[in-house]
Amino acid sequence: KRLAVFVSGGGSNFRAIHAATQQGAMAGEVAVVVSNAPACGGCEYARQHGIPTLTYPAPKDSPGEGLGDEELVQQLTLEYGVDIVVLAGYLKLIPPGLVRAFKRRILNIHPALLPAFGGKGYYGGKVHRAVVASGARFSGPTIHFVDEEYDTGPILAQAVVPVYPTDRPEQLAARVLKEEHRLYPLCVAALCDGRVTWREDGIPIMWTAH
Ligand code: GRF
Repeated sequence: KRLAVFVSGGGSNFRAIHAATQQGAMAGEVAVVVSNAPACGGCEYARQHGIPTLTYPAPKDSPGEGLGDEELVQQLTLEYGVDIVVLAGYLKLIPPGLVRAFKRRILNIHPALLPAFGGKGYYGGKVHRAVVASGARFSGPTIHFVDEEYDTGPILAQAVVPVYPTDRPEQLAARVLKEEHRLYPLCVAALCDGRVTWREDGIPIMWTAH
């Protein structure tokens, strides 16, 4: 399967997924990387590995630089023949046209146990501070399918890590990120292999390979 990976920052989840494709742990290959920040670490890594990059949305100060909403969908479907879209630390909204074009084929990862601590207010490092402040004893990554809103699509997988009341946010962030790098490639691989089925009430089920 051909993957489009969307990044905005360091791209550590993208690197974990790319590594899995290189180790034959996934029946997929990263065909293109999309970012709102072409100078970010994720795009740098893509360039180093000969993976094409697209800019979406266009940076505010240079509107000519990026693709429009329809152009993005055209590029991903017709130019790059993408089958699955993977949002990995991507901080912008994706256009409704893309959600429609890739129904049940767009994944996102959120570094907390949705539906708790979800939504735009918790983007970036803020979520971990809020989790520690809440006194929660567990946190962890949530991988979900994307619908038109932020962080509200059907959950595919979660993993838990302990939260210690003495944690600084960056300690929790690192503990969660490690789990993200383990869990996300497993989810993308399952989607590539057709090992995800849907309950009639719209809940996805991931079948692990034995
Ligand atoms: C990290 O906070 C991660 O928890 C979340 O997005 C941020 C950047 O991830 N998913 P990445 O290193 O760019 O994949």
